[in-house]
Amino acid sequence: MAKTNTLKHLAIIMDGNGRWAKRRGRVRTKGHEMGAEVVRDITTYCAKHESIETLTLYAFSTENWKRPKMEVTFLMKLLDNYLKNELDTYMRLDTRFETAGDLEPFSNKLKQTIADTKKATKDNKSLVQVLALNYGSRNEIVRAANRVISEKQELTEESLSNALDTPYSDIDLMIRTSGEQRLSNFLLWQLSYSEMFFTDTLWPDFSPVELEEIISSFQNRDRKFGGI
Ligand code: IPE
Ligand code: IPE
Ligand code: MG
Repeated sequence: MAKTNTLKHLAIIMDGNGRWAKRRGRVRTKGHEMGAEVVRDITTYCAKHESIETLTLYAFSTENWKRPKMEVTFLMKLLDNYLKNELDTYMRLDTRFETAGDLEPFSNKLKQTIADTKKATKDNKSLVQVLALNYGSRNEIVRAANRVISEKQELTEESLSNALDTPYSDIDLMIRTSGEQRLSNFLLWQLSYSEMFFTDTLWPDFSPVELEEIISSFQNRDRKFGGI
């Protein structure tokens, strides 16, 4: 019998901005700029998709601070501008903005923009877009475990899951662009039974058309969850 898997939670490692720019003889930051446009296109697709409830996007890892200061500063500014410029889009798409990761090291200005965007979009219902910012899965798990302990709860799969930055449904499908086949510290706990899809397309070239093809292939996969 043909199976159709339901896609509720999609996660994407948006990789390849630097290589995209390099291939065109442009500076790496140009790739990030184009990548931000694709974030808007993919979010739009997901907000309109009938079953997708949550879209988690890896935007900045706990390891990305190792990059040149100029690139890090550019990414922070790009994020600030994106959130301000796209507020109308979030509202039009009925999309709530959330984050995962430790926001503490960010500037007060950026923290304020993040808080303002969360507040303005908090009642939106069609989609939750979670941006993983200064996100590392090991860091998230340790913070969650400490939270459970400090609240004097018993440490169980359920209490730990609920204490994560990402207390959403399990991830059904994880896509990484740019041909790399690794997790780079992304959602180690939440990806336990996720289907994985790796595409060679660089993030600035990724499109709703390709996403739709990947979703079709996901829908036909045999998800067994340990059963037969
Ligand atoms: C992903 O693209 C964006 C971030 C990590 C912020 P990269 O910047 O990692 O692009 P490549 O991997 O160098 O091509
Ligand atoms: C992972 O990409 C982080 C984001 C996409 C934000 P990286 O480009 O930083 O990962 P590595 O260094 O290739 O593993
Ligand atoms: Mg990369």
